[in-house]
Amino acid sequence: MSDGVEILGLSKRYGDFVALDDVNMSIRNGEFVTLLGPSGSGKTTLLQMLAGLGTPSGGDMRIGGKSVVALPIEKREIGLVFQSYALFPHMTVAGNVGYPLKMRGVARDEIAHRVNEVLELVELSKFAKRRPSELSGGQQQRTAIARALVFEPSVMLLDEPLSALDRRLREHMKFELRRLHDMIGTTTIFVTHDQDEALALSDRIAVLDGGKLQQFGTANEIYRQPKTRFIAEFMGETNIIDTTVRAGEAGLVAEDGQGRRIAIGQPDGIGAGMKLALGIRAEQISLSRDGPGAADWTGRIRNRFFLGNSYRYIIDCAPHSFVAQVSAPHADESLAPGDTVALNWTPDSLQLLPA
Ligand SMILES: Nc1ncnc2c1ncn2[C@@H]1O[C@H](COP(=O)(O)OP(=O)(O)OP(=O)(O)O)[C@@H](O)[C@H]1O
Ligand SMILES: [Mg+2]
Repeated sequence: MSDGVEILGLSKRYGDFVALDDVNMSIRNGEFVTLLGPSGSGKTTLLQMLAGLGTPSGGDMRIGGKSVVALPIEKREIGLVFQSYALFPHMTVAGNVGYPLKMRGVARDEIAHRVNEVLELVELSKFAKRRPSELSGGQQQRTAIARALVFEPSVMLLDEPLSALDRRLREHMKFELRRLHDMIGTTTIFVTHDQDEALALSDRIAVLDGGKLQQFGTANEIYRQPKTRFIAEFMGETNIIDTTVRAGEAGLVAEDGQGRRIAIGQPDGIGAGMKLALGIRAEQISLSRDGPGAADWTGRIRNRFFLGNSYRYIIDCAPHSFVAQVSAPHADESLAPGDTVALNWTPDSLQLLPA
């Protein structure tokens, strides 16, 4: 058994441009980790460094406890799947999947056996003799995954493997990927810029921005306790209020520029006089016509949108504008634009963020 993947002070510069800046991550053996971040944040660069498709400017990478920085790509035992499947068009599915074994000089019988096995795993046995052009997008993607799995790599790197698929297939394939991972247990590093995909699939999520690792934690931690404003805003719809902390009667309160207050208790490291950004997710806000309301927080509904399973409200509470998303079964359907409402949330739904 290996000790997973360790990324130590990894940097990559292109000329003066820093694409990866001192990234440190320790990924456990068999873990499913997602790299999440906006376009240009360094996700692909990080996979390329791990795969050996480029040379880091600094730092180290270890797989199974051994540095791989000096190892060529074919010695790294890494399975790669990219957004474009890069299948060989003239080869059959079986030919494509067996290719990495052929390259490694594996005997013909053994290749046939292992190809059959892995095609069964991705449920493509019936398609073994077809060419990529005779397959659906999802089947092509599964072929690419089978080809990456066939030589039993110790690490699988998947760079936005679902982005070429339509929404329904994407939904299906994402759970399929996780199921495959759970069956095989290969350490997997998956890249996406889709928050929902990251939340649904990952043991842990690494959020990258500007080549820097912003936070590395479980889906729950990243969603509920984002460390920065950027992560709070990136991980779903969050209302952010800039406040100043003051001493209240029972613990601290955060006060906006208009004297409205939110009780925040006595969190570690927070004291009177500090600037604090408070995050409240759209789905954590509930609306009522009159009290109790979260102290001073009332506003006027500007817009209401019916989204099928929920209602989305835009509420003016000058100078703030709140977004609230209420699941349809719990929504008061009589609330309409122009109505005055109290905004309610529970204290534990507040995110305390550096200003
Ligand atoms: N060969 C290169 N030369 C110069 N700059 C590069 C090179 N490759 C990547 N970059 C830059 O490095 C940054 C990170 O690129 P990268 O491809 O890792 O982003 P990404 O997070 O994968 O984005 P996306 O979600 O769009 O795929 C980008 O600003 C990109 O322009
Ligand atoms: Mg990319």
